[in-house]
Amino acid sequence: MATIQDFEEKDRLANLGGGEERIEKQHKAGKMTARERIELLLDHGTFNEFDKFVVHRCDKYGMEKTKILGDGVVSGYGKIDGRLVYVYAYDFTAFGGSLSRTNANKIMKVQQMALQNGAPVIALNDSGGARIQEGIMGLSGYADIFYQNTMASGVIPQISAILGPCAGGACYSPALTDFIFMVKERSHMFITGPDVVKAVLHEEVSKEELGGASVHNSQSGVAHFLADSEEETLLMIRELLSFLPSNNMEDAPYTDTTDQANRENEKLYNIIPVDPNMSYDVKDVIEEVVDDGYFFEVMPYFAQNIVVGFAHLGGRSVGIVANQPNNMTGALDLNASDKGARFIRFCDCFNIPLVTFVDVPGFLPGTTQEHEGIIRHGAKIVYAYSEATVPKITLITRKAYGGAYIVMSSKQIGGDVNFAYPTAEIAVMGASGAVNILYRTSNDEERQKAVDDYTANFSNPYQAAELGLVDEIILPKQTRRKLIEALEMTRNKSKSNPPKKHGNIPL
Ligand code: HXC
Repeated sequence: MATIQDFEEKDRLANLGGGEERIEKQHKAGKMTARERIELLLDHGTFNEFDKFVVHRCDKYGMEKTKILGDGVVSGYGKIDGRLVYVYAYDFTAFGGSLSRTNANKIMKVQQMALQNGAPVIALNDSGGARIQEGIMGLSGYADIFYQNTMASGVIPQISAILGPCAGGACYSPALTDFIFMVKERSHMFITGPDVVKAVLHEEVSKEELGGASVHNSQSGVAHFLADSEEETLLMIRELLSFLPSNNMEDAPYTDTTDQANRENEKLYNIIPVDPNMSYDVKDVIEEVVDDGYFFEVMPYFAQNIVVGFAHLGGRSVGIVANQPNNMTGALDLNASDKGARFIRFCDCFNIPLVTFVDVPGFLPGTTQEHEGIIRHGAKIVYAYSEATVPKITLITRKAYGGAYIVMSSKQIGGDVNFAYPTAEIAVMGASGAVNILYRTSNDEERQKAVDDYTANFSNPYQAAELGLVDEIILPKQTRRKLIEALEMTRNKSKSNPPKKHGNIPL
């Protein structure tokens, strides 16, 4: 007869995963165990574990003699800031966290429950990939997980943390989720590792150089957040969730603030230089305006010519998109377009209003940009803004030129409230560029006169205001109040796009 003592012993063993020796090895490698990670991620004492006694069913390569309770994944549900979340963590101490068929079933159970119950899923990755002894069974398990990732996309937030190796096709589960966190010198993601690279291309490359946290945060754009430690990663995930709703039918939680909605922003007069050729840090503008000066930046190291992230305005969560004048003068390029478009679409999926700060001289010119497809990539950002039905509030702080003016949440592509400062310049192009084309054969004096003329006519917000393309010209000091009032005014916005299976965003 089974006894409570039997259960307690079994439970104790399950809690040890691959055993004390391997736990020690994990700690020596500077990593936490799956259970320690979950404990730190969730509100204390809220974790409920599923499938703790599940074991693999492999009977090859001596595996029938080695069964570990839980089999390499710890999964279940719990709370973050009192809100329901689902979580699964690969347990590297059990068969290197490799994915068996039974592990895949455990993960799918959590994914399906999260989808049905409308709560985020958090995946903590630390795995040697498909369980080699199981052959194609592990592969089929990955396929099931990818499919569930895709079904859940846009319905519930999906978050991945890479806390160890993540190699081969296994990378595609995180890649299908909304946000990827990586830890400096601990996380690695690559489709083919250094050994394969060496064999095929005769190229010597380290794991870190090939797919380390810095590479994916600053070069490839695969990851969204870079942390110094696992602890920091887990705390950042908790913070990210504070800006998000639990699913696409809800609004993000309201966050109380003592920051007055009508607080004036005198500092903006010093932050934004009147001279359009001088740069500034748009993050100073954002921090001056948003609640309590707090901006949670997404992808801070990638395509720094555009800044995206979350903040609160009047207690409501907003997605901020801003050109960054102090990086490539804020011009839009391939990566900035991808980064902006993806963020805009995330916010639109999850009912998070968009606030756009525009100061953009145009799309970046050049053969590299053209040959790598700035037409295709730039189209993503215009597509993303056009299809987004969440409230869209735009503020032109300085330059808004040409195609870049259109794509940065202009009135015509669905901006609900479009503001401009009195010193904004909204035009087809800058004065000297225009004169170079129109007055190619004129002498210097004529050209200077033409520049002055063009500047007087177009380097201001008034033509746009006359045409109703700017709803209101506001003073910098009014920025916070005006944005909050526009967000309140559009709070009940109800807009839907024509019915369709799905659109065909230029990928
Ligand atoms: C079974 C595995 C395993 C795997 C690791 N282990 N990976 N068991 N299947 N895929 C086991 C090891 O045998 C070892 O068991 C324990 O986990 C810890 O592994 P170590 O090698 O001792 O750890 P470490 O030195 O830290 O190296 C970690 C590692 C390495 C870099 C991940 O283990 C490794 O290269 N593993 C194989 C990676 C791989 O090629 N995976 C298949 C990829 S193909 P013991 O008993 O000694 O503790 C793939 C396809 C997915 O995943 C496609 C999806 C579409």
